[in-house]
Amino acid sequence: MNDENHTLHPFAANNICLIGLMGSGKSTIGPPLAEHLGYDFIDLDEEISKSMGRSIREIFEQLGEEKFRTEERNQLRRFCQQERQVIACGGGVVVTADNLECLRRQITVYLAASPETLADRVGVGEDRPLLKGAVSVAHRLATILKEREPLYRDCARIILATEGKDPATLVNELKAKLPTEITTPA
Ligand code: S3P
Repeated sequence: MNDENHTLHPFAANNICLIGLMGSGKSTIGPPLAEHLGYDFIDLDEEISKSMGRSIREIFEQLGEEKFRTEERNQLRRFCQQERQVIACGGGVVVTADNLECLRRQITVYLAASPETLADRVGVGEDRPLLKGAVSVAHRLATILKEREPLYRDCARIILATEGKDPATLVNELKAKLPTEITTPA
């Protein structure tokens, strides 16, 4: 996607939404980026967990994915109405059509990596419902990525290749790509 298609919506809040598959580094680079910008850091999964009173794994097991997706949508909308936040979204945030519209109105950043790298970072992925029972985590991630990659790319204003880069490098690269009104104090 080019920048022309992603000029900020007139009603856009200046939130930075981090998207990408599990293991892409959203929760790793989110907090230092927020701290640097003087923004709040929001972990959407944590907010869903708090509001539903269970862990993500329990929500999937006890209530089902649909209930999880509904709450994910509600929490995303709630936070996108506020400002000056770095929001780490769950990897599946893009599967709900409504969320795409919401993400396009924010400064959405896709953290891209190959399934092999994601698998290395995730490890066995015990707490990740979508990896449950996978014989090969890399293979499962490749299947999910194939479905979601076009959606990540469609709603991202910035795409960051994360392969082989440490968190500090990624934060610096991302800062350099952010609109100057965000990185320059008023
Ligand atoms: C999911 C990713 C998870 C979490 C839930 C569903 C997904 O978040 O929201 O298990 O559908 O990819 P992370 O991407 O932070 O692991």
